[in-house]
Amino acid sequence: MYSSSLLSLESSLGRRTFLRRFGRIAALAGAGSAFYSVPGAFAEELVRTPKQTEGPFYPDHLPLDTDNDLLVINDALTPAVGEITYVSGRILSPAGEPIRNALVEIWQCDQNGAYLHSKTGNGDKRDPNFQGFGRFITGSRGEYLFRTIKPVPYPGRCPHIHYAVKMKGHEKWTTQCYIKGHPGNEKDGIWRGIKDEKQRDAVTVDFAAMPGSKAGELAATFDLVMGYTPEL
Ligand SMILES: [Fe+2]
Repeated sequence: MYSSSLLSLESSLGRRTFLRRFGRIAALAGAGSAFYSVPGAFAEELVRTPKQTEGPFYPDHLPLDTDNDLLVINDALTPAVGEITYVSGRILSPAGEPIRNALVEIWQCDQNGAYLHSKTGNGDKRDPNFQGFGRFITGSRGEYLFRTIKPVPYPGRCPHIHYAVKMKGHEKWTTQCYIKGHPGNEKDGIWRGIKDEKQRDAVTVDFAAMPGSKAGELAATFDLVMGYTPEL
């Protein structure tokens, strides 16, 4: 699955472009997390990522394609509308150990505020080219990567990307990722529901211009610190 995800991302970007971008993203994802791979390197545990509600819009019908490139469904020629964003990070234990073979799922509304759900708002305005949902299985460093759009607000919510992490022997775990500095955050009941400031910061990340990207693509790094230690 890992390699097929890479392949389909490759085919949509062109191999050389993809490798260059993936290299850059891997570097971004690794920045600041190099120490995490040394168990016991920190006297204190990492801040655990707060669990957040799954919400009502986990897809009730899966898209035809569930890979990690949400901009293109299968071999479609027309990509989704939105600000292209590479979202990457690692799934970690509280001690910073990578959790591999975790199934990471994301889902979010399209540029017009429509989810892949029969009860979504804005369903009549759905962008038919947005995949809306994707999956990735973490590798040996616990890393994941998605290409998607920068999330947008919809009535009642500030922009967010939903995450589910599924691992053998553990219940499905869900959270949401937010845009640092977005004015809607302070008005959002679910974001505000995280009372601990450090935990709030842990799910609120920069969506910044990707270094060297002429097309204005964005990159966001979101590490998820789970409440358990991987089995080795
Ligand atoms: Fe949502």
